[in-house]
Amino acid sequence: MNRLSYLFILMLLAVIMPSEAKKKKGSSVAPKGISERVDSLLQLMTLEEKIGQTVLFTSRWDVTGPVLRDGEEDAIKSGQCGNIFNAHTAEYTRKLQKMAVEETRLGIPLLFGYDVIHGHQTLAPISLGESASWDLELIEKSARMAAREAAACGLHWTFAPMVDIGRDPRWGRVSEGAGEDPYLGIEIAKARVKGFQGDDLADKETVLACVKHMAAYGAAQAGRDYNSVDMSERVLRETYLPAYKAAIDAGARTVMTSFNDLDGVPATANSFLLKDILRDEWGFDGMVVTDYTAINELIPHGVAKDEYDAGVLAMKAGVDMDMEGGIYMDHLKKAIENGDVAMEELDNAVRNVLALKFELGIMDDPYRYCDEEREKEEVLSAQNRETAYQMAAKSCVLLKNDNSALPINANEKVAVIGPLANSKRDLLGSWKAAGKPQSVQATILDAIIKNGGSENVTFSKGCDINTDNKAGFAKAIEQAKKADKVIMVMGEKWSMSGEAACRTNLDFPGVQPELIQEITALGKPVVLVFMTGRAMTIQKESESVDALLNVWYPGVEGGRAVADILYGKENPSGKLTMTFPRNVGQIPIFYSYKRTGRPFDPSKPKDTYKSRYLDVQNTPLFPFGYGLSYTQFEYSDITISNSELVSGNSIEVSVSVTNSGNYDGEEVVQLYIWDQVASVTRPVKELKGFKKVKINKGDTQKVNFTINEEDLKFYRKDMTFGAEDGQFTIYIGSDSDASNSVEFSLTGVKL
Ligand code: BGC
Repeated sequence: MNRLSYLFILMLLAVIMPSEAKKKKGSSVAPKGISERVDSLLQLMTLEEKIGQTVLFTSRWDVTGPVLRDGEEDAIKSGQCGNIFNAHTAEYTRKLQKMAVEETRLGIPLLFGYDVIHGHQTLAPISLGESASWDLELIEKSARMAAREAAACGLHWTFAPMVDIGRDPRWGRVSEGAGEDPYLGIEIAKARVKGFQGDDLADKETVLACVKHMAAYGAAQAGRDYNSVDMSERVLRETYLPAYKAAIDAGARTVMTSFNDLDGVPATANSFLLKDILRDEWGFDGMVVTDYTAINELIPHGVAKDEYDAGVLAMKAGVDMDMEGGIYMDHLKKAIENGDVAMEELDNAVRNVLALKFELGIMDDPYRYCDEEREKEEVLSAQNRETAYQMAAKSCVLLKNDNSALPINANEKVAVIGPLANSKRDLLGSWKAAGKPQSVQATILDAIIKNGGSENVTFSKGCDINTDNKAGFAKAIEQAKKADKVIMVMGEKWSMSGEAACRTNLDFPGVQPELIQEITALGKPVVLVFMTGRAMTIQKESESVDALLNVWYPGVEGGRAVADILYGKENPSGKLTMTFPRNVGQIPIFYSYKRTGRPFDPSKPKDTYKSRYLDVQNTPLFPFGYGLSYTQFEYSDITISNSELVSGNSIEVSVSVTNSGNYDGEEVVQLYIWDQVASVTRPVKELKGFKKVKINKGDTQKVNFTINEEDLKFYRKDMTFGAEDGQFTIYIGSDSDASNSVEFSLTGVKL
């Protein structure tokens, strides 16, 4: 391909279809005009060129899975590969883009994708941590920051948001999602898509979102990654699908298939998911990409006998782009020639890819995202660091604070102990994208010293994260004895959650539990700060320490944010978005469980033949929605505008929340509903609303919610989606254990 012929094609396209197209705001539908331009281009393409647009290869800049082949640069130049992931920086993407634009016959630019999950270089807390902020505006702002930075580094497309519901903390990937709840999952999915894509994809500061992993990946059996998923369609539709749909309704232009099979059909060959639901029911007209080599994996799944077969299955199921597997590249031509795949099927896939390239504006200006100046200004800017700091400060969850252990007074003598106190890398979490440990200006230890002064702070590592070496215990104990308070910074290493990082033991790893017991036995006030990407089993530690602060992997500004919380410059306001079990045997454990026919009543502990364990309570260690503040919030009784909700109308409920403590603070006021009798069993309660409110000390704020029939819908016995007349209980409070309640009835629903 030479420059002249490229210009010729562009001129031809310009004549056929003047680019008056403008993206419709907030819509998931390709803007008008683009489809005509796509069709014109398609007519010029050879079969090989079309197939090239369905191919996505990794660059060697980063590796996020097994690399199957070398030579992505040759594949770009020959037009065999139209899309690249794991490459970034303005300079490098420009270099690759040049190959596509100047050396292929049609000069169609590459699409660059990357896992920009919770920031590009300015990393915010991991996604599960962000979700614990319950702060939708800030979550959107964080995604916007990630998009701006990524776009300035040559990227067009992020493989996020991950919206898989996570109810099994053994599964390492719960760290990448928004926790266990569909309602919260929907709200966060929308916020993230809006943050990444903005209102206009043609805006150079936005990137394409990719909703992943479709579908139900979070329900992998026994919490083991890539494992099978088997669930009823009711659970699929009620619990797992809503967040994907919400992301698509919010405009997400791409979808990634999941690795798992669902009821016997791998997601990457699943036309029920990818066609019947995604395209036909939800009206998605964007592009579907596989997860990493997921087409190849149809062979070990046992539904394809060879690569050819796998490619045909995936294409016929509605997969547009093959990530890294090379199956479309190697086998689609033959499949078309044999008639196993229709040209129309391939054309549709290519259309979906090309439409994105037009929408992003790279067909007209292939280098618009490769801007070294913008990259310099944007990456790790003061403004971005401030967003990451805010996000970190708001996502930490205070789980216990007895004897006013926190906040710490700046003149107290503090012994800092633990293998994570002085770590930069662990602050970043597993999906660090282009983030670098050296961009961390302060570890938790550094920032504690900044707050308390080096004369008041000692440090010893005490032990490793995950070995049985106790050589450091003695020094740690010595230092603890001399201190007024001990801050232990413990937990899981960054690599112990994320993809392919599942655990069956969710205790603190290595000898950390022993060190915690030895230190707490000294009788000094102990504050345990812990990093994790999941809900952990920390019953013993939670009983023996005075204060417990979950900081997740808090990102590049996490050290500063955590220390500012410890010293009272920030008041914690995060709330758990995943239930913390007492032990692994309780898993899966989530707040919106079903009552069963033999519910256990804890006030009658001697009752037998009830749904209970002999060796542990049914209740979790910390429930969904739980999190403390340095201040206290008191809730009034709930007032309700009408105890009858007539179909088509709405009712108002409200509570007054008083900050009765000594600090200004923020509270997440949560509303749950129990549908008492229905045609199918219903959860004991479901989150249906929340508001994060700032209330200064001594002040009272009225918090209102509106409830209508929409909030009461579910999949009825006949699988139609709607509400049913009946009696409901509303709970409003500070976590999912809320017992402050009021009842109402719903009447007049037309069936
Ligand atoms: C992960 C995806 C990710 C992809 C590309 C896969 O292994 O499952 O979440 O987007 O790699 O890095």
